[in-house]
Amino acid sequence: MAKVIVVYESKYGNTKLVAETIVEGMREVEGIEAVVSEVKQVDLKKIPDYDAILVGSPNHIGGPTGGIKEFIDRLGELPLEGKLFAVFDTYMADMGKDFEKTAKKMEKRIGEKVPGSKLAAPGLSIRVDGMKGPISEGELPKCKEFGNRIATQLKA
Ligand SMILES: Cc1cc2nc3c(=O)[nH]c(=O)nc-3n(C[C@H](O)[C@H](O)[C@H](O)COP(=O)(O)O)c2cc1C
Repeated sequence: MAKVIVVYESKYGNTKLVAETIVEGMREVEGIEAVVSEVKQVDLKKIPDYDAILVGSPNHIGGPTGGIKEFIDRLGELPLEGKLFAVFDTYMADMGKDFEKTAKKMEKRIGEKVPGSKLAAPGLSIRVDGMKGPISEGELPKCKEFGNRIATQLKA
């Protein structure tokens, strides 16, 4: 059984829905145990029990939230050599130039803080229609597919 944890922060619920939909996609793959957790609820000591760690944040002024930055920094204190990581973000439609900005920053931070970490897939960037959402049309299927693809890869 491969174990995955999806950790997110979400002010208005959109990034939470992305996290839950990614997990839905993962659970379609047999032999995958996937759980989702809000960043403030995570038990850091348990993180090394997982084979893959996914981290998601809304774009807040071009980068991840403070809670997610702190979480990534604390991962650096854990034995996570060889673990798989993937990131996702949500960003606002009328700030389209911010596509993937937060995901890229999270990937960079993970690379710097967690020695020996590997990326399971390039980051996923999901558009929302306004500050409070909702998630733009056509975006949710990408989340399910992202989860499914990473889970399939984990089993290989
Ligand atoms: C303080 C703050 C700053 C934001 N800055 C940006 C930004 O620079 N670029 C952008 O595309 N969206 C920005 N947004 C919009 C968020 O990306 C959007 O609210 C978020 O994706 C919704 O996710 P959530 O429901 O999980 O909170 C900002 C939102 C907040 C609350």
